[in-house]
This record gives sequence, structure tokens and C-alpha cells, in this order.
Amino acid sequence: MVEPSYVGEVLFTAEEIQAGIRRLCGELMHTYKDKKFSVVSVLKGAAVFTADLIRQLPGDLKLNFIVVSSYHREQRSSGSITVEYMPPSAEFAGQRILLVDDILDTGMTLSHLQKEILLRGAREVKTCVLLEKRVTRTQPIRPDFRCFFVDNIFVVGYGLDLAERYRNLPFIGVPREATR
Ligand code: PRP
Repeated sequence: MVEPSYVGEVLFTAEEIQAGIRRLCGELMHTYKDKKFSVVSVLKGAAVFTADLIRQLPGDLKLNFIVVSSYHREQRSSGSITVEYMPPSAEFAGQRILLVDDILDTGMTLSHLQKEILLRGAREVKTCVLLEKRVTRTQPIRPDFRCFFVDNIFVVGYGLDLAERYRNLPFIGVPREATR
């Protein structure tokens, strides 16, 4: 594939991403076996990843979304997160939750949401990310499941944005206009 001119380097092709998700689903099935679990996806970034992931998981699966933002159109986390939509507590009570996000950076988003979902009565919250950044996190969180590690560079595509652009790219790459 010839990448668009606004992407300097492709880190993961569409094919590599799909292979990563297949491998991840194998791990999930091994961990959960016949235990039921619900997927909670963190929008907007996890939308594309979630859509591909859930179609490789067993049919009897509940899906919910949380809408949250921390980057506020910047290339770095703002240090505070805004929860714009959270499902009612009844959606979490007594459930095993798989919390799905596109990228783990500072850890602030996932550690905050994990606590919030437990407070709402979930029996367990495991975390699953497409990308785990190799950075020193401000929150002591490791994902239970990940597809890929990525260095501390700004990446776009496959759901990840730069000021709301490039989420639709089928691959993950480094935008030419990114400076870090
Ligand atoms: C991004 C990303 C994660 C979070 C990770 O969301 O989708 O949810 O930041 O960063 P953290 O580990 O430092 O908390 P963003 O605020 O950009 O919103 P978006 O999902 O709408 O792109």
C-alpha cells in the first residue's frame, strides 16, 4: 500500500493489525474460557479497534460505550479527563468487564475508568488496549491484554486522531506534522 503523503511512516499495516487482533482474541478466549464478559469501549479512539475485536469474539456478548476525552485536540494528555457519557450502573453490576481502549499512555484514562466501573458494582474489570506506549506512566497500570507495544511517538490511524483527523486510516502511522 502507498501511504498518504501526510503519513511519514507506517508502523502497523491493516494486515498486521488484523493478525494482532486474532492473536489477542486467542488470549482472551484462553483467559475467559466459558466465563461471560461484557465489553466496554472507550470512545472515540477505540471505535475501530472495538468493531474488529468484537466480531472475532463469541456471539453472546454485551457491548457498552464510555465517551471520555483527555487530549483535548493536543498531542499530549491534558492531565485531566472529562467523562462525557457513562452507561447506567445497571450495565456494570455483577459483571466481568473488558475495558477496551486504543492506546495506553499516561494511564490516567484507564485507571480512572477502571475505578469508576468497579464503584458501579462490576465484579471484575480487565483492561485491553490496541497499543501500549513505552513510557513512564503517571498511573501504575499495566493492561491485562494488548496487541502491540509502541515507542513514545505520536501515532494516528485506525481510530487514533490528530486534532480529530486521520481516525479513518486503515493502518497506524506517524503523521508528518507530529513533532514528538
Ligand atoms: C486518548 C486515547 C485514550 C487516552 C490514553 O483519548 O483514546 O483514551 O487518550 O491516554 P492516557 O493513558 O494518557 O489517559 P483522547 O482524549 O485523545 O480522546 P479520543 O479517544 O476521543 O481520541
